[in-house]
Amino acid sequence: HSFFTSILNSAPPSPTKRHNKVTVVGAGNVGMAVAQTILTQDLVDELVLVDALPDKLRGEMLDLQHAAAFLPRTKIHASTEYSVTAGSDLCIVTAGARQVSGESRLNLVQRNVSLFRSIIPPLVQHSPACVILVVSNPVDVLTYVAWKLSGFPANRVIGSGTNLDSSRFRFLIADHLDVNAHDVQAYIVGEHGDSSVALWSSISVGGVPVLSFLEKQEIAYERVTLEKIHKAVIESADEVIRLKGYTSWAIGYSVANLARSILRDQRKVHPVSVLAKGFHGIHGGKVFLSLPSQLGRGGVIGVTNIHLTPKEAQHLRDSATAILEVQNQLPI
Ligand code: NAI
Ligand code: LAC
Repeated sequence: HSFFTSILNSAPPSPTKRHNKVTVVGAGNVGMAVAQTILTQDLVDELVLVDALPDKLRGEMLDLQHAAAFLPRTKIHASTEYSVTAGSDLCIVTAGARQVSGESRLNLVQRNVSLFRSIIPPLVQHSPACVILVVSNPVDVLTYVAWKLSGFPANRVIGSGTNLDSSRFRFLIADHLDVNAHDVQAYIVGEHGDSSVALWSSISVGGVPVLSFLEKQEIAYERVTLEKIHKAVIESADEVIRLKGYTSWAIGYSVANLARSILRDQRKVHPVSVLAKGFHGIHGGKVFLSLPSQLGRGGVIGVTNIHLTPKEAQHLRDSATAILEVQNQLPI
């Protein structure tokens, strides 16, 4: 077109820039929070939205496209047809029923497993080399279901897991100590749910391991405070759901945080839901649950050989049992 004049006699070869394409399945509260955060953080060249509701899908696409003047240039597509997802590097699945206040995430399993049977195969057909990132709940069981339905190697099927719980944990510790959450290192592992496990020995603030600090300072009450904070983390989703009907912003930032590590090959460690069989004495079945794992372009690079106290390891095995009790009832 005549808006610009080339400074060369012939068109230059198009650069072989890495083109990042991400699909978000489910244009609901969570899917749109993920999409908006990914766009704002300039993580992709092409974003695809898929949902079962065509009008909502088109409305969300247009509403995002209208922000083009304020965002990095990103192609945004939307369709109920999976052909639009072809060649995605990362497929994020947020579609499905959500729990109401007081309802366990595990109670959603039957409804969402049947959805996954219609979602995972076409994603895999059109993007056979992608990484699948599951967000829908119960996220650990559904990550296992996505792995089974996809036929992918386990390193390319990840659940958002306790990346969100650990962020809530870090916020509450930071708030209690009046420090920046970025300076709080703390992992919650296991089920993204009621049986999650706080790794007390992993907590450090500004590089100072908290437990040994408390023991040296003989600050006994802080242990009780930390246990109250873990309980608050477990209850936090239900509190937000009771107040606003669903959670979306924190999970949106959490998933964009994971997408960055994967798409930009950050090789960063995150507590995410991975195939955990064989780790820390987990042997009851092929269970996905969160362990601190290094993420890069190809998905899971490895699981950290983090030390767990005998009590923490037992709690983790109990968490695996809680997930398997639901998972083993599935016809998959
Ligand atoms: P929502 O109801 O706002 O959105 C769900 C979307 O899925 C809807 O737009 C619906 O049309 C779509 N959908 C339903 N069937 C579909 C199909 N077959 N194909 C494509 N799209 C389909 O629900 P919300 O609040 O976005 O939650 C979604 C899921 O994410 C729930 O399972 C919820 O529990 C989970 N979640 C997980 C979190 C985590 O930390 N892992 C955090 C927050 C929510
Ligand atoms: C949460 C629920 C919805 O943790 O999984 O926000």
